[in-house]
Amino acid sequence: MELFRKKENLTQHIQTLKSKGLIIGFVPTMGALHDGHLTLVRQAQAECDVVVVSIFVNPTQFNNKDDLRFYPRKEAEDLAMLEKIGCNIVFAPDEKEMYPEPDTRQFNLGPLASTMEGEFRPGHFNGVAQVVTKLFEIVQPHKAYFGQKDFQQLAIITAITKELKYPIEIVPVPTVREQDGLAMSSRNERLTQEQRAMAPVIYKTLKSAVELQHSMTVEEVEQWVIHQIHTSSTMKVEYFKIVNAETLRPIRNWHEKCKIIGCIAVYCGDVRLIDNIFFN
Ligand code: PAJ
Repeated sequence: MELFRKKENLTQHIQTLKSKGLIIGFVPTMGALHDGHLTLVRQAQAECDVVVVSIFVNPTQFNNKDDLRFYPRKEAEDLAMLEKIGCNIVFAPDEKEMYPEPDTRQFNLGPLASTMEGEFRPGHFNGVAQVVTKLFEIVQPHKAYFGQKDFQQLAIITAITKELKYPIEIVPVPTVREQDGLAMSSRNERLTQEQRAMAPVIYKTLKSAVELQHSMTVEEVEQWVIHQIHTSSTMKVEYFKIVNAETLRPIRNWHEKCKIIGCIAVYCGDVRLIDNIFFN
């Protein structure tokens, strides 16, 4: 496995590989890797000749200073995990390398970015767009892999890729969960034992909500989920929205001819967790 810290060296190396006809797969991450990340890497390995993983905790996408400060950083462990599963290339730049000067680009992300995460984490997706476009230009992969756990991020990156005409296929990967259903996340490490024990209520409630669509309206199911989590735990729901999975706009009834997804953000103590579930 080769480790790159400098973008020019990586770009040059990848161009050489591409000139030999090799297919490049890319998995961007912020490190503190878990089996969710590794599943993206394994899928990339199954579909590409060379897999590049980036590890960079991107400051511009954190709208909360403490979230950035407490975000887990464990590069040595990450590198060992990636080496073990046969990853080919890791790009782990420092902040100066990614942002030699402040990135002032403002992306017009439209309605996809104004709801849910966009509403409660102002500036978050602009920061994601800044770093992902930089990474795409450095790596220039054929395919890039993103988890459905961050469903809105996946939708926005798919839209930006199309808008900016990057010749990159965005590949969605289903959410990987712990045995008790909790979606794997680097932030789970910050949960106390007690919080970790209650966190599976999130996915359990989402699964029950899918069943309730036969007997309740969309709005009733939205309210039921929030109420259920608040009565069965001390977690605090920030939002739960049932939306059209393509436009992320609210749906009015279950008969709309689109893929329907319910997206949730929950505070477990001061740890913010997100999850989602398809209703059809
Ligand atoms: P990070 O949270 O490290 O996630 C990296 C990738 O792993 C994302 O595509 C995310 O959706 C995916 N992922 C995380 N947990 C997952 C799970 N349980 N199942 C499936 N996939 C999972 O998302 C980011 O980093 C950053 O915003 C980034 C795109 C790297 C830009 O900085």
